[in-house]
Amino acid sequence: MTFDNLLIEGDGSVATVTINRPKVLNALNAPTLDDLRRAMLELKRDQSVRAIVITGSGDKSFVAGADINELAVQSPSSGRDHALTGQHVFDLIENLGKPVIAAVNGYALGGGCELAMACTLRIAADTATFGQPEINLGILPGYAGTQRLPRLVGKGRAMALILSGSAISALEAERIGLVNRVVPAADLLVEARRMAATLAAQAPIAMRYIINAINHGLEMPFAQGCAYEATLFGLVAATDDMREGTRAFLEKRKPSFQGK
Ligand code: COA
Repeated sequence: MTFDNLLIEGDGSVATVTINRPKVLNALNAPTLDDLRRAMLELKRDQSVRAIVITGSGDKSFVAGADINELAVQSPSSGRDHALTGQHVFDLIENLGKPVIAAVNGYALGGGCELAMACTLRIAADTATFGQPEINLGILPGYAGTQRLPRLVGKGRAMALILSGSAISALEAERIGLVNRVVPAADLLVEARRMAATLAAQAPIAMRYIINAINHGLEMPFAQGCAYEATLFGLVAATDDMREGTRAFLEKRKPSFQGK
């Protein structure tokens, strides 16, 4: 797999995707978004890949947003298409069925913050900053930032961040629940890959159902979400992995999950 704007590395069951446009702080232009879409589809299909880390190249920026050169010339119809395209790619990441960890190595602004939010989990360098600065450009978040941010941190905090357009530190992001963990910048990739390897060793079908139940359940009334959970709970009982996991516990050994 080769892409103009991404680097893909594999290490056992963990793949690392690096957004690679360092001259513009890894801003997402249309070709990069399309590379990301194709790469994620490929990694979804690849049975040997069980967890993915997404990061940005260089030590300054994860992703500094959508490419402002493209935004500056958009029309009402291309603007709508632009937002729908980004939303589609980020939906794909959120619902990939495999854990995707954002390793936020610097600026996560605008589309960068939205990309991190679409990931399953977020780990940040202590030097990272987060924000939705679109209002400073006279626009609004278009890759589902107005929807995912309040779901992650609550309506009041999302309003304050998006309306002010100001950035917050990694520690503040951790305090409000926008990131799961903050680590020293030098340890970021090692820790993100360690986190990914731990998830990659878990039962893949249960992993897929859990991500699905949480993502879709959040959009349902509580009782419907519980019914959905019960259906997936029943389905997982058909897997070899369920038999392996429960037997391994009873036999006091480590389980070996095959994703079947
Ligand atoms: N789109 C296009 N180009 C971008 C970009 C973006 N989102 N973010 C940064 N760049 C470019 C800059 O134009 C500059 O290009 P140049 O070297 O040709 O002048 C290069 O990346 C380096 O950025 P620069 O602004 O010089 O770095 P900095 O360290 O002074 O500031 C930021 C870093 C992130 C604070 C600043 O680049 C910024 O505010 N970027 C835009 C963030 C944003 O509004 N994102 C949401 C877009 S919807």
